Amino acid sequence: MRPRPPFPASPDGWFCVADSDELTPGEVKAVRYFGRELVLWRTEGGEARLADAHCPHLGAHIGVGGKVLGESLRCPFHGWRFDPTGRCVEVPYARRIPPHAALTLWPVAERNGCVFAWHHAKGGPPSWEVPVVPEWGSEAWSAPVRRKFRVRTHCQEMAENVVDDAHFRYVHGTHTMPKSTARIDGHIFRVTSISMVGTPRGETEGRIEIASYGFGFGITRFSGVIETLVVITGAPIDDDWSETTLRFMVRKLASEDATKGVGRAFVAEIDRQFGQDIPIWENKIHLPRPLLCDGDGPITLLRRWARQFYSGLSEVPEAMGVPLET
Ligand code: FES
Ligand SMILES: [Fe+2]
Repeated sequence: MRPRPPFPASPDGWFCVADSDELTPGEVKAVRYFGRELVLWRTEGGEARLADAHCPHLGAHIGVGGKVLGESLRCPFHGWRFDPTGRCVEVPYARRIPPHAALTLWPVAERNGCVFAWHHAKGGPPSWEVPVVPEWGSEAWSAPVRRKFRVRTHCQEMAENVVDDAHFRYVHGTHTMPKSTARIDGHIFRVTSISMVGTPRGETEGRIEIASYGFGFGITRFSGVIETLVVITGAPIDDDWSETTLRFMVRKLASEDATKGVGRAFVAEIDRQFGQDIPIWENKIHLPRPLLCDGDGPITLLRRWARQFYSGLSEVPEAMGVPLET
């Protein structure tokens, strides 16, 4: 059996648990992320909420048959009702509500068309925010096109892909290797990657700017020939599986047809590359001490940045296997 990476499956941070347009007011859903059964709902007033799925009364899964009543959520088993803070506000057949009857709520934030949940191995509160993407909803940009993938790998393995310069040539068949530089900016990992792009008028420099906010949210901006953007979100599902969603946008060109054409080609290319990465991710192992060479991208720096998201590990530097002084 493939050994698991030597760090927790669910890092700390904000992770996308739903697309906003897939959770309508009054809707209740059973979802599974972070190796946990969860209930996700939207109140009739429009607030998204996430809680541990099982009712504190007798353990029903509230995501299976639960109902939104105004701003509250009703358990399908015996009708206990919980307010948006998780507190039980009604037991329809009892005179007294048991003290401490409450759902365990998760911190939730909604922006850029996504519902994010904050996961922290030690239950710590959010220590940073998911930024608003200024292009999202802008008239100057096309509406996002979405692609969702479920992959049998850890989200850090997927994150390492963007700074793995050499694989672009050998996995994706690009004829030159990009040159990436990266820096750690607190919880943000910033990468600038330059590569040569073939156009009908010859080769030109393509520039990629990537900002990863932990492992659950990232923005990748492509400029040079045409301006495009990918908003990337993800979440660990359990010990083995991760989910990633890519949302593609194009800065509008002079004609709608041209914008659509570029958008289609862009989605097809990233789709192709993602499809090529999946068999590598699903079969590789995580080497805590990889044998890196000078042409490899800033993989060591990414691993150093990643340590801050593993509060659940007692000996992070040892387990991550990256020397502190590199
Ligand atoms: S199990 Fe939820 S009300 Fe009884
Ligand atoms: Fe790749």
